[in-house]
Amino acid sequence: MNILVTGGLGYIGSHTCVALLEAGYNVIVADNLCNSKEETKNRINQITGKELTFYQLEVTSDYAVEEIFNQHEIDGIIHFAGLKAVGESVEKPLVYYYNNIVSTMVLARACQKYGVKRFVFSSSATVYGDNKAPFIEDMKLLPTTNPYGETKAMCERILTDIAKAYPVFSVALLRYFNPVGAHESGLIGEAPNGIPNNLMPYVTQVAKGKLEKLRVFGNDYPTIDGTGVRDYIHVLDLAEGHVAALNNLKEGAHVYNLGTGQGTSVLKLVKAFEEANGIKIPYEIAARRPGDIASCYADASKAERELGWTATRNIVAMCRDAWNFEKTYRKHGENTKKVLMLF
Ligand code: NAD
Ligand code: UFG
Repeated sequence: MNILVTGGLGYIGSHTCVALLEAGYNVIVADNLCNSKEETKNRINQITGKELTFYQLEVTSDYAVEEIFNQHEIDGIIHFAGLKAVGESVEKPLVYYYNNIVSTMVLARACQKYGVKRFVFSSSATVYGDNKAPFIEDMKLLPTTNPYGETKAMCERILTDIAKAYPVFSVALLRYFNPVGAHESGLIGEAPNGIPNNLMPYVTQVAKGKLEKLRVFGNDYPTIDGTGVRDYIHVLDLAEGHVAALNNLKEGAHVYNLGTGQGTSVLKLVKAFEEANGIKIPYEIAARRPGDIASCYADASKAERELGWTATRNIVAMCRDAWNFEKTYRKHGENTKKVLMLF
């Protein structure tokens, strides 16, 4: 079966390509490399011993996307390609709305034109807004605080409406919680540009000595120790969740949380990292970060019930593999460079 993976050389996409190849799928990747490197393709091949097909192209372009459909019989699409930096989306809303929404519409249109019935979409727990955790799929969604989150909520609505109008279209809307970690080989992982926004890559760069200390954003939240609680999920579990979603698609649009169901505070994660890797992480308490919520974790029971999937890797494995990638990756080279900034 041929699966088109957009954004397949990015962080979550590359791990999912590994899982798909290992599960016996043929993988065709479309990525414009705005936040990834072509070298990742070789790493995926190295890990799996299998070849994927790569197209460097823009998935907001009907014309470019149709090239793939003219070359391959596509059986399903996993759509990862998108821009994901929350702060940047506030500064450049048009770039985010255009990239994330137009790409989804271009791909949905190609599905109709070429009769593709299977579609898996990367959504985010951010669509729950300020609801009270644990987040359950049928909760009423609250407005998100940034354009990035709005693009995810809008794409969910667009795909749901299309699936209502054309019931043969089977869509899984996957709401990811906080993906961290890396493939245990250290060959692929998350390599953000510049100073990381997210906690785990920040911690690994402090461990490396690249950054002096972690700033913990707020210790006065109503949580176990006052610091923000999140549902960290190993990226390999997340990747396996995509294979499960693809294997269990059913007609209509269906939402699934992909999380562990466990909340971990910032200080607990720091402690787990120190214990897993034997490295001290210096930190200071800083002011709350605007837009952050106190607690975000999943009710992960629907994915278990309907997809037969649960996350199996614990926080220690997440910290160990994240650090292993940071060490290995730096040996291989420097960060990627963003090339797409249109507006
Ligand atoms: P990433 O930036 O590592 O990967 C995205 C990939 O898409 C990159 O390789 C980039 O080059 C490519 N891309 C972007 N726009 C494109 C376009 N117009 N045409 C072709 N390729 C394009 O991000 P990721 O962390 O792997 O995230 C993948 C998806 O999951 C995104 O849609 C993101 O919004 C979503 N998501 C991520 C997180 C997270 O914390 N990482 C959480 C929730 C949801
Ligand atoms: N944090 C710090 N210091 C840092 C970075 C983060 O204390 O230097 C804290 C945050 O305040 C938060 C927790 O660590 O309490 C996690 O923050 P991240 O930035 O790693 O992740 P977020 O939960 O804020 O956001 C992530 C993605 C979003 C996605 C969301 C839900 O960045 O795109 O998870 O899936 F929408």
